[in-house]
Amino acid sequence: MQYKRVLLKLSGEALMGDRHYGIDPNRLKEYAKEIKEVTEKGIELAIVIGGGNIFRGVSGASNGMDRVQGDHMGMLATCINGLALQSALEDEGIYTRLQTAIQIKEIAEPYIKRKAIRHLEKGRVVIFGAGTGNPYFTTDTAAVLRAIEINADAILKGTRVDGIYNVDPEKDENAIKFETITFKDVISKGLKVMDMTAFTLSEENKLPIIVFDMNTSGNLLKLVSGKQIGTIVNH
Ligand code: GTP
Repeated sequence: MQYKRVLLKLSGEALMGDRHYGIDPNRLKEYAKEIKEVTEKGIELAIVIGGGNIFRGVSGASNGMDRVQGDHMGMLATCINGLALQSALEDEGIYTRLQTAIQIKEIAEPYIKRKAIRHLEKGRVVIFGAGTGNPYFTTDTAAVLRAIEINADAILKGTRVDGIYNVDPEKDENAIKFETITFKDVISKGLKVMDMTAFTLSEENKLPIIVFDMNTSGNLLKLVSGKQIGTIVNH
């Protein structure tokens, strides 16, 4: 296996499947199966999931809501998704722990780095909820932060696009995909991989980012096995 410990970042929107809102149970089940394949190979897996399928702080703010209030709602949305994912993973027989950056102790463990690492070492999938616990930070930033804290080998950003292109592949059919690209080139070419806070945190800590299509069955396993899937951003 190419990787021993990885952090998988899933977007909340991905959980919607073909819906316009909320959680598609079939999509959740598919993801749980993909994740199971990887854990069966002994890969240590942590997950950060977004909350955009339920609430986005930024769009709340653009509609006149207080930004901090909106971000708090978004953080709670990630906890809802985390609980849903935990349930789906447990249905597949995977041991999991949900840790949250905001304390909701009756529902989930508080985030404690050392406990998270112990869970991973014991083969449990650790889901990190509530982002970084702070407003103005995205779940991408939370994902990079947690990945660094748990010493992950890479962050795997599951999206509906199969990598990073020179132009938006959903708008231009001549778009060219990169197999690898450096952090510097992403910035100099003006490409969007993550928000700047998340991206520079990753760069400064030499954490490779792999952008890949999570909706193609088998991709996650191929990726951790070292096959060329998606685009890797590295130094
Ligand atoms: P190890 O003892 O290190 O193997 O970890 P463990 O998670 O099995 O032990 P622990 O006694 O910490 O947890 C037992 C169960 O209680 C697990 O399902 C945890 O997720 C859960 N748990 C632990 N702390 C909390 C908490 O603060 N809140 C909630 N809701 N559950 C918790």
